Amino acid sequence: MRRILVTGANKGIGFAIAERILEEAEDTSVFLGSRDPDRGEAAAERLRQAWADGNDRVQVVEVDVASDESVDRAAHKVRDACGSDQLYGIVNNAGIGLGSNNLRSVLNVNARGIQRICSAFIPLLADGGRIVNVTSAAGPNFVSTCSPEQRAFLTRPDVTWSEIDAMMNECVAIAGDTEAFSSRGLGDGSPYGLSKALANAYTLHLARECPQFIINACTPGFIATDMTLQHEGRRGKTPEEMGMKQPREGAKSAMFLLFGEPEGSGHYYGSDAKRSPLDRYRAPGTPPYTGD
Ligand SMILES: NC(=O)c1ccc[n+]([C@@H]2O[C@H](COP(=O)([O-])OP(=O)(O)OC[C@H]3O[C@@H](n4cnc5c(N)ncnc54)[C@H](OP(=O)(O)O)[C@@H]3O)[C@@H](O)[C@H]2O)c1
Repeated sequence: MRRILVTGANKGIGFAIAERILEEAEDTSVFLGSRDPDRGEAAAERLRQAWADGNDRVQVVEVDVASDESVDRAAHKVRDACGSDQLYGIVNNAGIGLGSNNLRSVLNVNARGIQRICSAFIPLLADGGRIVNVTSAAGPNFVSTCSPEQRAFLTRPDVTWSEIDAMMNECVAIAGDTEAFSSRGLGDGSPYGLSKALANAYTLHLARECPQFIINACTPGFIATDMTLQHEGRRGKTPEEMGMKQPREGAKSAMFLLFGEPEGSGHYYGSDAKRSPLDRYRAPGTPPYTGD
């Protein structure tokens, strides 16, 4: 049985990833991560009802990726549930938009949350296991607005976590000061884009540090979920009119990175499951990126 943790899986793209894992790979079970246990159980129940063997294949794990204690508790729970088995995969999907959140909390979930989960769960991951970081095209879009120096930093294969951590602290110290971001070569300091660019940089770091695993990042595309529908509602258009796809389609790249044959580790993939550059947008359907 291949056991896979998906964070933020009680709804949206995370739920769709969990559903497709159960549907498309019979030898799998899912640890359905949810920061709220009731929302997690409700989501798990939907999956259990859809699958005759669902009771054995879905287990809710309460995990708030913004909290060290919660992540450590979750890792203990998963370790106990696995017994002598190991995890096959970790999907870092949990994320937040800016909304009413500030830069510190966006970074704490979207970038530090991935690092927190990886630190706690990697000891449970089998050699050859997969880590999929659901980031966003907002990352490369953000990097494309940066100075050559910051662009080089955010795409450097030898970037370290302590450098990423230091950059986050520096950015939090100037949060809201657009000019300060601009003068540091960090575009307009968009919190969401910055958090996803840093999560992509962390993917580079982790892939280098952990060659025994296959570790990549991807964007789901522009998907109709609670995160995006808030904006859609404001513009008075339907999701289709806005060019949004459904969550199951948003799971495509993550599914490929979990079960397919990506080009190694430390890369970023577009929503069409093709490689994309870290420093500029590549539209789905256009030729894949072939650089280093
Ligand atoms: N939708 C898009 O077009 C799009 C585009 C690019 C990238 N993404 C990325 O795709 C991922 C999934 O987003 P989505 O669109 O499916 O959004 P969503 O429907 O809002 O779902 C987000 C999920 O993350 C969970 N979450 C938020 N903060 C958390 C925390 N601190 N700890 C644990 N779980 C937490 C949410 O839990 P609650 O239910 O408890 O809030 C929810 O389960 C995110 O990383 C997002 O940035 C989405």
